[in-house]
Amino acid sequence: MAEIVGAYFTSHVPAIGGAIHRGDQQDPYWKPFFDGFPKVHEWLAAVKPDVAVVFSNDHGLNFFLDKMPTFAVGAAAEYANADEGWGLPLYKSFQGHPALSWHVIEQLVEDEFDPVTCQQMLVDHAISIPFELAYPDAREWPVKLVPIGINTVQHPLPSAKRCLALGRSVHRALASWAGDERIVLIGTGGLSHQLDGARAGFINADYDRFCLDHLASDPDALTGHSIHDIVRLAGTQGVEVLNWIAARGALGPAAREVHRNYHIPISNTAAATVLMEPA
Ligand code: DHB
Ligand code: FE
Repeated sequence: MAEIVGAYFTSHVPAIGGAIHRGDQQDPYWKPFFDGFPKVHEWLAAVKPDVAVVFSNDHGLNFFLDKMPTFAVGAAAEYANADEGWGLPLYKSFQGHPALSWHVIEQLVEDEFDPVTCQQMLVDHAISIPFELAYPDAREWPVKLVPIGINTVQHPLPSAKRCLALGRSVHRALASWAGDERIVLIGTGGLSHQLDGARAGFINADYDRFCLDHLASDPDALTGHSIHDIVRLAGTQGVEVLNWIAARGALGPAAREVHRNYHIPISNTAAATVLMEPA
């Protein structure tokens, strides 16, 4: 039987890619953020996942405003990285796990979700940056990828309740997968940030702490806010917390936090890094 080893959550600010490229991890601006990662490296070395099911949002690379799936699941054998305009170096491509992707898709449809299935998909900074942070010395990624995209970009967005339910459906899929893979869930983006408009630069540490304090023990608490509440509380891009909520759902009914780092700001973002294990 496959084993869910835990979940890794982190912000995916593109500027982190520049900091890694320059070797700025010990620079006073970056150090408090990068200091959250030795524990992640230790944990990954101990739990040794070989598949990552990643919940993230596309930033205009695969899907633009003309075509915007609410939920999209990759089912490709390989996923190339591309940069949708940040000037980031190009990162390693990912090996997919099409059989597991289709198993997840079948469970989602069985549970009355209607995902777009993508046999071709590029990955942007929302996946590459968390991987560069997690596996800084890797020559190739040590895990296969099952990417699940959530629309956090163009309204109407799915509710937090719907994203938690999506994650729980993915959990059912993983629990019935007959392979012997060691699976890590990953949620990327957030926490509070707003990149544009009158509130550009908005950060809300109180809401972030509410999310961090409840995500492991009581994720349903995060579903009490509507999408418009979350935009108000977390900022227009802070809604990326939906990716975290879905990944938490996929981890299973009971979870405990084993690591947390929270630092304001990295670029425009309240940056957080969390590890959880099934409890
Ligand atoms: C920033 C944060 C993001 O989540 C993103 O996708 C792009 C930029 C930022 O804070 O700069
Ligand atoms: Fe983002």
